[in-house]
Amino acid sequence: MSEGDLIEKKVHEIYGNLITRSRMVRDPSVAVKVLEHEYKLVVSEELVRLVYASFLNGKPVLFEGPPGTGKTEIGQALLELWSGKKSFILPCSENYDEYKVIGDFHPLMAMKMGFTEESFTPRPLLAAMILDTGVLVDEIRRSNDEFQNMLLDIIDKRRVVVPELKRLFLSKGTGFQIIFTSNPDDVAQNELSDAFLRRVVRLKFTYPDRDTETKIIRLRSSRKPSISNDMIKVILNVIDRLRNSSILHKPGTDEAVTWTKMAQAIAELEGYEEVKLRHIKETGISLLSKRSDDEEIIEKLINDVLV
Ligand SMILES: Nc1ncnc2c1ncn2[C@@H]1O[C@H](COP(=O)(O)OP(=O)(O)O)[C@@H](O)[C@H]1O
Ligand SMILES: [Mg+2]
Repeated sequence: MSEGDLIEKKVHEIYGNLITRSRMVRDPSVAVKVLEHEYKLVVSEELVRLVYASFLNGKPVLFEGPPGTGKTEIGQALLELWSGKKSFILPCSENYDEYKVIGDFHPLMAMKMGFTEESFTPRPLLAAMILDTGVLVDEIRRSNDEFQNMLLDIIDKRRVVVPELKRLFLSKGTGFQIIFTSNPDDVAQNELSDAFLRRVVRLKFTYPDRDTETKIIRLRSSRKPSISNDMIKVILNVIDRLRNSSILHKPGTDEAVTWTKMAQAIAELEGYEEVKLRHIKETGISLLSKRSDDEEIIEKLINDVLV
């Protein structure tokens, strides 16, 4: 085996079992159905079309929006349907760097043999390029500028350079695509650079409309104990008020789903066939109040939407 194959071999050894094959779906209207039935995700055909059009142009996509609006799950699912393989996920943090995503050298081995392919361990971004699959770069605002610029260079040229190895890795297929996620309202996070924003296709995520959110809740909650449309309405009315309040925690769709499932679980534990208002109240206060002084406000909110 030539030396050049060693990195590919390592990638297959380390990641081969994780990146299993799945069904490739590149028709947006079919993808919408597969997303709903197999992934339990409600996604508009327009969004799928825009993502796929970006991929056809080798352009990375940025999903921006509040927490719990499905950015991470939808991103991963779309990368998977596009490439027909499981995708990688990189959860960003301030100290993320090229060594963590492209590859690093084992210090002892590097001391003994130098910076060679034997002492090099490939990491997810390089692995994704070699395996021709997608990468979800989650919460990109948590990373630093240098990291963002490094990623852009890789995306622009669809290649990774490892100078120590004097090697260039080129993307060989169309499966290697990137979706970034970010929450622009999180004040604790960094801004994205102009250079970054210029190169990505930005797609905005918002809280879904009433019908869509009800559909998501139905898709995600169990059949039994049953929950009536009126009870779901109570949940969504409270959630709506919280989203419009300027001081309280703003719940995402994920929390609407969890609230419903918790109410169902409590009803089940009590031996009920159907969720009662009491179950919704009981679970809502614990789930939605994030500080002890919120509890009263949440309780009042729940009582208010009932009148
Ligand atoms: N469009 C959607 N279809 C189905 N579930 C959704 C959708 N949007 C949000 N959810 C709920 O939120 C969860 C996913 O949220 P996540 O992808 O982590 O959101 P984000 O990354 O925007 O914070 C799902 O498990 C589901 O409960
Ligand atoms: Mg997320």
